[in-house]
Amino acid sequence: MARDFDNQVIVLGVTGSIAAYKSCEIASRLVEAGAEVVPVLTSGGREFLGTASLEGITGQRAITDMFESVQNPDIEHIALARRANLFLIAPATANIIAKAAHGLADDWLSTTLLATRAPILFAPAMNTMMYQHPATQDNMALLKSRGCHFVGPATGALACGEFGPGRLIDTPAILEAAAIALCNEQSLRGKHVLITSGGNHEPIDPVRYIGNRSSGKMGYALALEALKRGAQVTVVCGPCEVRPPDAAIVVDTPTATAMLEAVNACLPQVDIFIAAAAVADYRIEDPPTEKRKRNGANLTLELAPNPDIAAHVGAARKPHQLAIGFAAETHDILEHAAAKLKKKNLDLIVANDVKSVDSGFGTDTTRAWFLGQDVEPEALPLLSKAELAQRLFDRVAILQATLPATNR
Ligand code: PMT
Repeated sequence: MARDFDNQVIVLGVTGSIAAYKSCEIASRLVEAGAEVVPVLTSGGREFLGTASLEGITGQRAITDMFESVQNPDIEHIALARRANLFLIAPATANIIAKAAHGLADDWLSTTLLATRAPILFAPAMNTMMYQHPATQDNMALLKSRGCHFVGPATGALACGEFGPGRLIDTPAILEAAAIALCNEQSLRGKHVLITSGGNHEPIDPVRYIGNRSSGKMGYALALEALKRGAQVTVVCGPCEVRPPDAAIVVDTPTATAMLEAVNACLPQVDIFIAAAAVADYRIEDPPTEKRKRNGANLTLELAPNPDIAAHVGAARKPHQLAIGFAAETHDILEHAAAKLKKKNLDLIVANDVKSVDSGFGTDTTRAWFLGQDVEPEALPLLSKAELAQRLFDRVAILQATLPATNR
C-alpha cells in the first residue's frame, strides 16, 4: 500500500458497532500511508469507543457533536465536506446506511454525507439478520446505484453469537477499497478485465500435488490497478498465498483444466485478457483416488500436457478483445518471450526474468520487458509489481486506441 494515501483527506466515520475498536487500526494504517484522517464518531460510535485513541492516532480532534462546529470553523460540516477526498464509514451500521440512503441528516456524519460530493465508502458491520433484511439490502442497492462504494462484510462468528455475514471486513481489504474509491482515473470504465493468477495444484493422489511457487502477487497488482481504473475485474485464481482484491470477482480453480473452463465461461464478456498465472504445464491424467503407498522404490509419474490457456484465448478471441501474456524465463529471455508472443497470438507479452532474486515468483519487485507485435522490446527498470501493473495498463490504453473504433 506504501504511500497510496499521500495528500488525501479522509473523513473516517465510526458508528455504533462492537467493531468500532477496529477503526483505530484502520486510522493508523491510513495515517502510515500518508492520509490526513479526520475521525468522526456518531453517538453510538462514541458509546463503543472513546475519542482519545483516534485523536492520538490521527493527531486530529475527533468530531462528535453537531453543534461543536458552530464554534470551530475548521470542522464546520460544509468546509470538511468540500475538503475531504473520501468519506470512509467503518464500521457502518444499518442505521447510518439507512440514513444515507434516505437523506436523513440528524447528526454531524449524516448531515455531512449529504453535503459532500467526495466518494463514500461503507464497510458494513452488523448482525446477520439485520444485514440480510430487505430494508438494509435495498438501502445498500440504492446507495450503490448512486455511486457509493461498499466493502465487505466478512462472514464469520459475530459478537451476538450468530454465524454469518456481518463482520467488519479486514483492514487490508478496507484500505484496498479506499484506494479504489479514491482513484479518479476511469479509463477502463465499462471494460471487463479477466486475469489468470497464481499457480495450479495438479493432483498426484488425494494428498499430494505438483505445484509451483507463484504467490499471486502479480495477479493481485494487476487486478487492483484495473479496479482503480474503473474496470469490472474477474480473477481466475489458482492456489496461491495472495488473494485477489475484495472488489474483484474471483473464480477459484485448483488445476489448469479448471482454469481453462473458467476462462472459457467468462471469455465472451471480456474486453482484456491477461494471463499472469503460472499454469501447470503437465498433469497426471487419472490420479488415483487412494493415497499412493511409499514402498522405498523409485516412483515414476507419467505426465500429460495441460491445455495452453493463453494460446486458446489467442486463437478464440474476437477482434475487440486484447490478449496479454507473461513469459517466465531464466535465459534467452527476449527470444523465448518473442516466440511465445507469436505462437499464442498475443498483443503483448511481459517477459519476466525469474532467475534474479528480486524478480519473478514470490518477489515484490520484477525485472521485465514489454514485447509487442511489430514494435521494439521495451526494457523496464526494476519495478514493484504495482508499478509494473500501472505501466501495463498504460500500454493497454495505447493498444485500445489502435483498435478500429467499432472494436473499442
Ligand atoms: O504470482 P507471483 O509470485 O507474483 O509471480 C508472478 C509470475 C512470475 C508467475 C508472473 O509474473 C508470470 O511470469 N506468469 C507467467 C508464468 C508462466 O507460466 O510463464 P510461461 O512462460 O510458462 O507461459 C507463457 C504464458 O502462457 C503465460 O502468460 C502463462 O500464463 C500462459 N500459459 C502457460 C501455460 C499454459 N498451459 N497455459 C497458459 O495460459
